[in-house]
Amino acid sequence: EAKKLWGGRFTGATDPLMEKFNESLPFDRRMWAEDIRGSQAYAKALAKAGVLTQDEADTIVEGLSKVAEEWAAGTFEVKPGDEDIHTANERRLSELIGATGGKLHTGRSRNDQVATDTRLWLYGQVQMIRGALRELITAAADRAEAEVDVLLPGFTHLQPAQTVRWSHWLLSHAAAWQRDDERLRDLLPRLGTLPLGSGALAGNPFGVDRQFLSRELGFEGRVCPNSMDAVSDRDFVAEFLFASSLHLVHLSRWAEDLIIYSSGQFKFVQCSDAYATGSSLMPQKKNPDALELIRGKGGRMIGNLTGMMAVVKGTPTTYNKDFQEGWELMFEAADTLHDCVRIASGVLCTLRIDPDRMRSGLSADMLATDLAEYLVRKGVPFRETHHISGAAVKLAEDRGCELSALSVADLQGIHPLFADDVVEVWDFQRSAEMRDTEGGASRRSVLEQVQKLRTYLAQQ
Ligand code: ARG
Repeated sequence: EAKKLWGGRFTGATDPLMEKFNESLPFDRRMWAEDIRGSQAYAKALAKAGVLTQDEADTIVEGLSKVAEEWAAGTFEVKPGDEDIHTANERRLSELIGATGGKLHTGRSRNDQVATDTRLWLYGQVQMIRGALRELITAAADRAEAEVDVLLPGFTHLQPAQTVRWSHWLLSHAAAWQRDDERLRDLLPRLGTLPLGSGALAGNPFGVDRQFLSRELGFEGRVCPNSMDAVSDRDFVAEFLFASSLHLVHLSRWAEDLIIYSSGQFKFVQCSDAYATGSSLMPQKKNPDALELIRGKGGRMIGNLTGMMAVVKGTPTTYNKDFQEGWELMFEAADTLHDCVRIASGVLCTLRIDPDRMRSGLSADMLATDLAEYLVRKGVPFRETHHISGAAVKLAEDRGCELSALSVADLQGIHPLFADDVVEVWDFQRSAEMRDTEGGASRRSVLEQVQKLRTYLAQQ
């Protein structure tokens, strides 16, 4: 039976199932590098505080580097009793350097240690994910610029509504993704705040310099302001899970649009072979699996978020073992998010579009608003023009013809202010161009949106 880190007051053995039930090493070994970094910084802080001699600190820092090398090389040997990454690393350190290893944990608890490790780990992940997200946004901006002349039927309630541009649609999603990127960015300073030096809950009795620790670990001097809160706080996980969930909600809606647009009834777009699969039975099928998986993973991500909130909710102040249940939610979320963003980029970059099919999806009734606006420009109050245009729609419907097939005389029968120039209304391009306000569907406005996005991307 291996000696337990905390075994001093225990005489009885642990139930083998409890041993397994309790251990987190199978998943928290992922943060071996952060655990080592945190410990190396802590050894230096202990030396600064006069708890360790410089020699002892150097020995510990070097020993920890050797432990890190073993993890990196895949030669780290897990032993019974290695309950989590913290105990495993400390056990191995002491094997390598002897009794001095036992001085590392002075004034420290796994409570401030685990909070530090996970913050460090997640900080790196968020930066990596942001990199991928910004590539996705760039891909949208590039396509929007290159394909700005492609018109697209715009829908509300999934019913044909008004003429927009394919690029306008792309940028509508990019706008949401920009907010997602901002949310992740805003998370960084709160995430990058240091719990280390809080001990188990009451603080550190050896005067370690927390400012030094914070800077040493890249947290720019930010430290958790209260030691009890520092070991209690899992907001950073919940916030990350929320940011992830909302981003996947956005990606899911984007995917849903493309699933619809790629269906046989629409055929506006086609997924490249790289992101589709076939049917084991129906030879003609090409299914948008990548998009459906993104949609599905959004559901799971929301599960992780609610799972985390539920884990923390009923716990009394400071550390409780319940928190250990949160790490897998966090690890899985980071992996899923990173995968989804990169898959979305792949789908977007390789998607083929069919501008002719998009164009043939435009129907004259989608110009009914423009018909009303024609009369507005002649001084008729909009509320009246709405009814007048509605009457024209009804007339066309009764006749079984397109709205644009009504003659000027037909229209004059509905309202005397219709004149020969009304034929100019039957132009989808014009309809989009009329909407030239900031954020609108005109070519100029859409290109301006691209520019704004590029300015944002250039910022950080
Ligand atoms: N593996 C533990 C966790 O993930 C580390 C902290 C253990 N602390 C304690 N007081 N038992 O939460």
